[in-house]
Amino acid sequence: MINCKSQTELEKMRRSGRIVGQVLETVKALVAPGVSTMDLERVAEEKIHELGAKPAFKGYYDYPCVLCTSVNNEIIHGIPSEKRVLKEGDIVSIDCGVVLDGYYGDSAITVPVGNTIAPELKKLLEVTETSLKKAIQEVRLGKTVGDVGAAVQEYVESNGFSVVREFVGHGIGTRLHEEPQVPNYGVRGHGTRLREGMVLAIEPMVNIGKPEARVLGDKWTAVTVDGSYSAHFEHCVAVTRNGPLVLTE
Ligand code: MF3
Ligand code: CO
Repeated sequence: MINCKSQTELEKMRRSGRIVGQVLETVKALVAPGVSTMDLERVAEEKIHELGAKPAFKGYYDYPCVLCTSVNNEIIHGIPSEKRVLKEGDIVSIDCGVVLDGYYGDSAITVPVGNTIAPELKKLLEVTETSLKKAIQEVRLGKTVGDVGAAVQEYVESNGFSVVREFVGHGIGTRLHEEPQVPNYGVRGHGTRLREGMVLAIEPMVNIGKPEARVLGDKWTAVTVDGSYSAHFEHCVAVTRNGPLVLTE
């Protein structure tokens, strides 16, 4: 069952979405060599509370933190740690979710650490973010979830990178994860047809090398099997009669 949101509900989701956006902006400004992923976590937790929201991830299936911080070959769900100190040339994905007034927001960015990013990594970040922008453009009445996934896949693969299959985007609303699943691959015209008020959390995960993922012994951190670097961007997007409405910026 897919929950379509009313105008009032979308306004609430916009408020929680904005807070996630503000948290990510705050944390992004802090990313630098010598900063640990736990430093990012602390600032995020404080900011979420300051903005009057609650973290969505902490306690979700016993996940211990408000952020996921995934460095280099880590795809998603990296757990912040005092021991993980960022260094020049790394890339870090920062994923944050909050709940406000019963409605969830969920968004992620991947940013370089320091000023000397390798050209291949710069391209990885650009291609992944652009693939999300292209997917967002598919969020229109009459399009399908397959169109959204195909937009990501076509753009990523035409740039020589690969999309992860083991993890997918999702519907979102009064729960962090709602139907439908939103894969980053697909066939145009296939899958659930988009209707007014649906909200999709679209989250391309893109590897430089092979698409396969595996989960580490901590039961959370997903890494690339081939060790190649990976990037992740995410926005929540509502289907409206006027086209896509991004809620998390
Ligand atoms: N953005 C991710 C997702 O939607 C983050 C979830 S982390 C978890 O699945 F801890 F909450 F599971
Ligand atoms: Co998500």
